[in-house]
Amino acid sequence: MNQEANIPVTLSAQDTILQRRSVRGYLDKPVPQETLDAIFSLAQQAPSNCNIQPWKTYVASGATRDNIKKQLTDNVLADARMNPDFDFHDKFPGVYRTRQVDCAMALYNEMGVERKDKEARFSARLRNFELFDAPHACFIGMNRDFSINIALDVGMYIQTLMLAMTSFGVSSCAQGCLRYYPDLVRETFGISDEIGILVGISFGYEDKEIAANRTRTERASLEESVVFFD
Ligand SMILES: Cc1cc2nc3c(=O)[nH]c(=O)nc-3n(C[C@H](O)[C@H](O)[C@H](O)COP(=O)(O)O)c2cc1C
Repeated sequence: MNQEANIPVTLSAQDTILQRRSVRGYLDKPVPQETLDAIFSLAQQAPSNCNIQPWKTYVASGATRDNIKKQLTDNVLADARMNPDFDFHDKFPGVYRTRQVDCAMALYNEMGVERKDKEARFSARLRNFELFDAPHACFIGMNRDFSINIALDVGMYIQTLMLAMTSFGVSSCAQGCLRYYPDLVRETFGISDEIGILVGISFGYEDKEIAANRTRTERASLEESVVFFD
């Protein structure tokens, strides 16, 4: 990305997919509004059941971002009760647990966090609620009455959005933990109670000096996930 000229680098679809990764440390440099407009317009192209486009997206920048970051961190420091709108108590048996631990260890290793060091782990977790110092965060919701079927559409949208960001040289990190305090998100943006908050995404320009950003994750082999039948 030529950030000054605000010109997106032309990336192939393959390169865009390969270049996207979770970034957990950002420069104090806002993304220009015209780039935000271009990114969020592109993401509108995501497919959905019957084209209902169920996603509702709220973008926090500037003072709104500062305010929401403070409220989130205050809540975590005060150990405030979490009240997510949607059930998030998924269990990760077997290989899923292995992958979850591998993912956490890849991050902690780069951050120099020992697995048994509870204080360091707490600080690492708190970084989520500090939005990894990103100048922007968006919160994505849908009508509370929608089921898992429609959450699939929102998932499509989220990846489309993150790939659109990548294509403009903007990094991101999807954060399930930004769903834990939906009331303050609704209050900040004046969102009606009908909308539940599914996820948040911190985004901006990567700070390459941040150790966490050296983290790389692996993927299972094709055979583990995909079966081809003739
Ligand atoms: C729905 C969703 C929720 C996530 N929640 C968090 C989170 O709360 N905190 C975090 O640091 N990363 C979070 N991640 C990022 C994943 O850990 C990351 O996508 C995964 O480890 C693969 O790494 P990569 O994104 O760099 O390819 C989330 C990703 C997704 C898709």
